[in-house]
Amino acid sequence: MNTSTEPGLLVVRTVADLRRAVAGFRKAGRTIGLVPTMGALHEGHVSLVKGALERGDVPVTSIFVNPTQFGPKEDFSAYPRDEEGDFDKLRDAQCRIAFAPTKDEMYPGEQLTTVTVAGITDGLCGPLRPGHFQGVATVVSKLLLMAMPDRAYFGEKDYQQLQVIKRMVRDLAMPFEIVGMPTVREKDGLAMSSRNRYLSAEERTKALGMYKQLVTVADAVRDGTKSCAEASAAASQALRDGGFDIVEYFTVVDADSLKPLEHVAGPARVIAAARLGRTRLIDNLAV
Ligand code: PAF
Repeated sequence: MNTSTEPGLLVVRTVADLRRAVAGFRKAGRTIGLVPTMGALHEGHVSLVKGALERGDVPVTSIFVNPTQFGPKEDFSAYPRDEEGDFDKLRDAQCRIAFAPTKDEMYPGEQLTTVTVAGITDGLCGPLRPGHFQGVATVVSKLLLMAMPDRAYFGEKDYQQLQVIKRMVRDLAMPFEIVGMPTVREKDGLAMSSRNRYLSAEERTKALGMYKQLVTVADAVRDGTKSCAEASAAASQALRDGGFDIVEYFTVVDADSLKPLEHVAGPARVIAAARLGRTRLIDNLAV
């Protein structure tokens, strides 16, 4: 294996090789920025790699479709996988290390330890996806401990996930800085997501409704023309009228605690999850 710090993307598949590669960069005086992903990379992921480069970190991207964060009826087997395409995108983005472990490398033998973050997982996606955030917190803990980065980069599109990880790192005194990066959107506003590949052309048009309603609600509650509950109820109805099959939630929450708000007084987030055919879309905006 090439363990040097010469240019190019180094693909590693084992924790031992990852640590050797990271150690090479550390020896050369570099800091490390981890970008955890499940692959099927898009501009949103590339922006996380750029975020690491801008802060002077050596970007290390992990690609692992983590089975423990999918429910039994969720899309684990259908989740898009395109490893060679991902490596090409990482090369273009000047990522230096891709860590693409097997399931056995991530979870060797019997695993008896999990990480659970309470409270902020009680609402939003928490009850709708039982076990999801435990799966995320556990795999992210493992990835952080495997790579031992200075910083780790996550997109704000998965806002509840970002808050869960920030809280976990704080509560467990993990020595990593968690950097939240702005959601990257298509030209028309649709949040980039690996799951957008599931959308038919017709669904893709309807999907834009979510961003539009988030903007409408953020404007209404910011200038106080509607209460959070009124604005959110109107948005849910508009999504159903616009062809969404199920609106799982559409609500305004405190930006840190994720508790639902009636009126906006401090930092808040308007946040939604809805289903369009077999695709589950989530998005959010700062108020
Ligand atoms: O956001 C994701 O892609 C995943 O939840 C993460 C953080 C890589 C953990 O598997």
